[in-house]
Amino acid sequence: MSLNTLRALLLLGLWQTGRRSLTLASELQEQPKKIAVIGAGIGGTAAAFYLREEFGPLVKIDVFEPGTVGGRLATVKMGDYEYETGGAVIHPLNLHMKQFVDKLGIPQRKGLPSKMAIFDGKELVFEESDWFIVNIFKMLWRYGFSFIRMQMWVESILDKFMRIYQYQQYGYSFSSVDKLLHAMGGDSFLTLMNQTLEEAMMGEGFSQVFINDIVAPITRVNYCQSVRINGFVGAVSLAGADSGLWAVDGGNKRVCSGLLYHSKSDLIPGKVTSISVKTRPSKRGNTVSYYEVNYVGESGLAHSLYDIVVIATPLHQGKSDITFTGFSPPIPTHYPGLYHRMVATLVHGTLNVSYLGTAQPASEFTVSDILTTDSKGCAINSLGSLDPVHIPDGYSRPPASYPNVWKVFSTQSLTQEQLQQMFLSYDSVSETPWLAYPSYRPPHRRTPPFILHDRLYYLNAVEWAASAMEMSAISARNVALLAHHRWHKQVGKVDQEDLHTRLRGEL
Ligand SMILES: Cc1cc2nc3c(=O)[nH]c(=O)nc-3n(C[C@H](O)[C@H](O)[C@H](O)COP(=O)(O)OP(=O)(O)OC[C@H]3O[C@@H](n4cnc5c(N)ncnc54)[C@H](O)[C@@H]3O)c2cc1C
Ligand SMILES: *[C@@H]1O[C@H](CO)[C@@H](O)[C@H](O)[C@H]1NC(C)=O
Ligand SMILES: *[C@@H]1O[C@H](CO)[C@@H](O)[C@H](O)[C@H]1NC(C)=O
Repeated sequence: MSLNTLRALLLLGLWQTGRRSLTLASELQEQPKKIAVIGAGIGGTAAAFYLREEFGPLVKIDVFEPGTVGGRLATVKMGDYEYETGGAVIHPLNLHMKQFVDKLGIPQRKGLPSKMAIFDGKELVFEESDWFIVNIFKMLWRYGFSFIRMQMWVESILDKFMRIYQYQQYGYSFSSVDKLLHAMGGDSFLTLMNQTLEEAMMGEGFSQVFINDIVAPITRVNYCQSVRINGFVGAVSLAGADSGLWAVDGGNKRVCSGLLYHSKSDLIPGKVTSISVKTRPSKRGNTVSYYEVNYVGESGLAHSLYDIVVIATPLHQGKSDITFTGFSPPIPTHYPGLYHRMVATLVHGTLNVSYLGTAQPASEFTVSDILTTDSKGCAINSLGSLDPVHIPDGYSRPPASYPNVWKVFSTQSLTQEQLQQMFLSYDSVSETPWLAYPSYRPPHRRTPPFILHDRLYYLNAVEWAASAMEMSAISARNVALLAHHRWHKQVGKVDQEDLHTRLRGEL
C-alpha cells in the first residue's frame, strides 16, 4: 500500500472507526484505582490522556512535575512576545500530535515563508532561491539525483513508520523498543538502529560529498550531532527537513496542559525521589504489589501508593534522580548512555551579515534558516530568524537590516566575543542550556526497557530510537495499552508478529 493511500485512509476516518469497542468480561473485574505518571512533558501528559482512554473515568491519575508543564517544550519571553526554546516543529504526518490539537481545539500557528542557506564557517556554500526551479537546477548541477533519491529513501521509511498508527488503533502494543521498531519496519529498522546514518546512506549509494554538504547540516540543526547518529533518528531528522512542518499557536507546551486537563488528572507539583515496591495479600488470597512513590512536594516529603506507575522522564545522568528500592532484579537510577548537552540562545539584535561571509546588503538578506556544515571553523550549529509562538495580524519578518529575534544552537555557551561578531548590536540575550536528547552512538546495545517491573513502565526508552514529540506520544500510547493489556492479562494484544500482513485484510 502506498503512503498516499494510507494517508487517505487515515484521514477518511479509520482514525475513529478502528477503536476496540467491546468491553470484555475481564474488564468488568477489578480496575486499578490509582495510577501515577512521573513527568508532565508531552510524554507524561499524553500518557495521562491515553491511560484515561484505556482505564475509564473512575481511576485516579496523578501526574508529578517539579517544573513547568511541558518539559522540553518550553518558551521564554523576550520583549512583548514569547518564543520556543525547546521542541519547535512538528511533521505533517505526526498523527498523534495532530489528533491532540484537533481534540483540544488548539489552532496551528500561522505559517510564514522561509528560506534556507548553508554556512561552512567562512561563507554561505548554498543559498535557497525564491524560485523553486532555480533550486532544482542548483541541486541537480551539484548532486545529480541524490536529492530526489534522498526524499524517496526517507519516504519509504516514513511509509513503514506510519504502520504504528494502525497497530495502535487496533490496540496492539509492544514490550520493547526493538519489538516496536521491528513491527513497523522489520529487520531493516533494527539495522538502521545499529548503523550510523552515514553508513546507512553510503550503503544506499549516496556520496560522501552529498552526506557532508547536505545531510550533516540537517542532523546538526535537528540533533546538534554529526551524521554518526543512528540511521533511524537520522531518517527522522531528514523527514524534519520536509515541507509542511507546523507548530502550535501560542506555544507547543499548550498541548501538554491541554492533555492534562482533558484527561482529568491531578497535577502534583513535586519531584519524585524514590519508588519502592510493596506487597500485600489480596482478597483472593494471592499477593499484589503496590508502588510507593516518594516525592518532595509543596509541604515537604510525602508519599502515595499506586497500582500502576509510568515514568515519563529520561532515567539518565543529569535528567532525573529516582532511586528504586526493593526491586529484584534491581532497577538503576541511571541507564548507560548520556544526554547531549547543547545551548539554545535567543538574541534580540541586528545580525552582522558579513559574519556569514556574504556580500549582500543586509536590507536584501532574507534567509531565515542558516544551517552549518561539520567544519572546524563553525562555532555554531545553526542560526535562524525566530517568529513568536503567536503570529499577530499584520506580522511580517523584518529583513536582516532591522533588529529581530534570532535563535542560535551551539554545543557551548556563546561567548561575548562571539555574540559581538555575529551581531552588529543586540539588547537582550536569553540562554537555555539543555540536556536535549540522547548522544547517539550506534550501535546502542542495551536500549532501556518499556517494562521496568510488573506494572511499572518507562516511556522515554523510545528516545534511543529517536527523540521527538511524536515519538514520546507514540510511546505514551504504547505504554498505556501495555499497562491495560497486562492488567487484564490480554496477552494476545502484546508483541504480535506479522501485524502488517495480518491487518492488511482489515483495511
Ligand atoms: C532544543 C530542542 C529542540 C527540539 N526540537 C524538536 C522539534 O523541533 N521537534 C520535535 O518533535 N522534537 C524536538 N525536540 C525533542 C522534544 O522536545 C522531546 O523529544 C520531547 O519534548 C520529550 O518529551 P518528554 O515528555 O518525553 O520529556 P520531557 O519534556 O523532558 O518531560 C519530562 C518531565 O519530567 C520532569 N521530571 C524530571 N525529573 C522528575 C522527577 N524526579 N519527578 C517528577 N518529574 C520529573 C521534568 O521536569 C520534565 O518536565 C527538541 C528538543 C530540544 C531540547
Ligand atoms: C545489532 O547489534 C547488536 C550488537 O552489536 C547485535 O547483537 C544485533 O544482532 C544487531 N542487530 C541487527 C538487526 O543487526
Ligand atoms: C562582522 O563580521 C565580520 C566577519 O566576521 C567581522 O570582520 C566584523 O568585525 C563584524 N562586525 C562587527 C561590527 O562586529
